[in-house]
Amino acid sequence: MGEAEVQAAARILRSGVLFRYGDPKQGHPNECAKFERELARKLGKKHALLVTSGTAALICALAGMEVGPGDEVIVPGYTFIASALAPLAVGALPVIAEIDESLTLDPADVEAKLSARTKVIMPVHMCGLPADLAAIRRLARRHGVKVLEDVCQAGGGSFRGRRLGSLGDAGAFSFNFFKNITAGEGGAVVTDDPRIFSRAIIHHDGGLGFWEHGKKLSSPLFAGWNFRASELQGAILRVQLRRIDGLLKRNRAHKAKMMSALADHPKLTFIKHHDLAGDCANVLGFYFPSEKKARAFIAGMAHQGVWTWTPIDSGRHVYSNWEPVMEQRGSYHPALDSFKRPENRGSKARYTPDMCPQTLDVLSRTVFLDIRPEWKAADVRKRIRACEAAAGDL
Ligand SMILES: Cc1ncc(COP(=O)(O)O)c(C=O)c1O
Repeated sequence: MGEAEVQAAARILRSGVLFRYGDPKQGHPNECAKFERELARKLGKKHALLVTSGTAALICALAGMEVGPGDEVIVPGYTFIASALAPLAVGALPVIAEIDESLTLDPADVEAKLSARTKVIMPVHMCGLPADLAAIRRLARRHGVKVLEDVCQAGGGSFRGRRLGSLGDAGAFSFNFFKNITAGEGGAVVTDDPRIFSRAIIHHDGGLGFWEHGKKLSSPLFAGWNFRASELQGAILRVQLRRIDGLLKRNRAHKAKMMSALADHPKLTFIKHHDLAGDCANVLGFYFPSEKKARAFIAGMAHQGVWTWTPIDSGRHVYSNWEPVMEQRGSYHPALDSFKRPENRGSKARYTPDMCPQTLDVLSRTVFLDIRPEWKAADVRKRIRACEAAAGDL
C-alpha cells in the first residue's frame, strides 16, 4: 500500500459514492467497472467480475458453470480450505487429489480420480507457483470437463506466456490482505464464456434486477446472493493492478539470484517448477530427502536469523486439517449438506486424513523461504549465506 492507494481511497470517500452502481444524485465514479475492464484486458479475457472475496469468486464461478448436486470438483490436497468449501456451497462434492513435487495438482492422480460425476478440475497455483496447466487442460478436454483456476495466491503470474486465470474456462482471484494484489478483501471471476459470466453476475447479486449489470444478462434471473464489491475496493485495486508487474519483476530477480547461487549446492534441491518465468516468486522452495532434514534446515536457518517454514505446518491449507470436510459436515442445515444429499450418494469420494499420502510426504519434505519485493541486494546475499550455512550443517 502506498500513497497512490491512499489518494484513490480518499477520492472515493470525498465523492461520497461508495456503491458500485452509483448514486442517481451524486454521480458515478465507476471504479469497480473500470477495474473489471482493466483486469480483463491484462488477462486477455472478455469478462471480469469483481466480488467480495476469493471464496465468493470460486462459488460464483461454479454457479456460472452450473455445478450442483451430483457433481464432483477435483481439488488438490494442498490449498486453502476455501477451494474445497466452494463445491460444498453449491451442493457438489470436492474430490481431493494428490499434489506432486511442484506443490500443485498431480495430473496422474487427477486422471485416476476423474469419474462420470466430475464436472470441474480446479488447479490451484499455490504460493504463486503455476500448476501444470498444459497437462490439466489436456485431461479436461479429453474427458469433457471444465477447468476453474484458483489464482487466489498467484495474481499476476503466468504459464507459458499467458496470465494465470486466463487458461481455464474461468479463473478465481482473491484480493484479501495476504495476496499479491490486495484491497484488504475482494475477489474476481474472469472468463470468456458469456453464460458463465452471466450466471456468476446473477449469483453475486440477487438484487441485480435494479442495476445496470442486470440489463446485460444472457440468462434468466435466479435467486442469487450478495457478494457485491464497493467502489473503495475497485479504486484501490486499480492502483494495485498497475503495481503488480513491477513487484513480481523484483521478486523474480531475487529468486533468480538465489537459485543461481545455490544451484550446485550438494545438499540443496529445489522444488519442481512448471514455469519459472511465470512464477510469482513469492517463495523459494527446497525439497529434502526427509522431514527430519527439512526441519533441521529450518532450525539452521533460524540460527542464521532467517525465517523459513514447511507447508505441512500450514493449518487449513493441508487437507487433513479441513475439519468440515474430514468430518463431513457440509452445511449448517442437513438438507443443504452436500455429503448427505441423495444426488451425491453414489459418489466414490472418500475423506480420511491418510487418503493422500504423497501430498503429506511432499509437504513435510518441503521448506519455503518467503521473498519480498522490497529486499535490497544485501538481503538476498544474507539469505544465500544462511542457506549455505544451514545446508552445510545437514
Ligand atoms: C488458494 C486459495 N483459494 C481461495 C482462497 C479464498 O480467498 P478469500 O480469503 O479471499 O475468500 C484463498 C485465500 O486465502 C486461497 O489462498
